[in-house]
Amino acid sequence: MKLTVFNGSPRGMGSNTKILMEHFLNGYSETGGEGAKIEYLVRTQEHGKYAGMFRDSDTVILAFPLYTDSMPGIVMAFIEALAPFKGKCAGKKVGFIVQSGFPEAVHSSFIPMYLEKLCKRLGCGYLGTVIRGGVEGIQVMPPSMTKKLFAEFHALGAYFGKNTAFDPEVKARLANPFRFGIVMRFVLRLMGALGLMNFFWNMQLKQNKAFDKRFDKPFEKQGV
Ligand SMILES: Cc1cc2nc3c(=O)[nH]c(=O)nc-3n(C[C@H](O)[C@H](O)[C@H](O)COP(=O)(O)O)c2cc1C
Repeated sequence: MKLTVFNGSPRGMGSNTKILMEHFLNGYSETGGEGAKIEYLVRTQEHGKYAGMFRDSDTVILAFPLYTDSMPGIVMAFIEALAPFKGKCAGKKVGFIVQSGFPEAVHSSFIPMYLEKLCKRLGCGYLGTVIRGGVEGIQVMPPSMTKKLFAEFHALGAYFGKNTAFDPEVKARLANPFRFGIVMRFVLRLMGALGLMNFFWNMQLKQNKAFDKRFDKPFEKQGV
């Protein structure tokens, strides 16, 4: 199988997507998956070349972070570069991995509908979309906190190397929690009421000497 992985994060080599896909590809190569290529969509000047790679690959995984409930602009631009292949991708299999900052998978749950439709338009096989929330902090978390997540991506890759499919069980575990339960929602509401939810953002504002300006509305029309 000729697999190409496209990393759709604007952070490119410094991205969480890269870290997760490294674990995926370690598992993939252990189970006979070979010759995987990884390309970074942040190199937008290469999109023409990448579109050609998409056309020539048997199997493609497009992995990207959730941006404002959708996809980064560079992912959209890449998808638009695939327009010439509409209806011409028979035999190709395409899967997607979407990871987000907010912990609940529900935030990404609308994306698979779009991605499935995309595959239909291209005429290729749709391998499904793996969703994972709560990824933002992985680069600053201690290894004990990321061990399980990385092991799941390794297992996902190992299954993919053998079956050219996403393991339904690992996929289901990664999409957990879909929504927080009632207790967690209550705790979060309480934290919000106590102002604790703003702690991290306030710290960033202070570090950037912007705390006093946090309620500014620079684009508000004056005198209306
Ligand atoms: C501009 C921007 C928009 C974002 N929008 C969302 C969002 O709508 N929902 C969410 O859960 N996370 C959102 N995030 C968080 C990213 O999805 C999250 O940090 C992800 O792990 C980043 O992955 P990367 O390092 O591979 O780019 C956003 C981050 C940025 C920078």
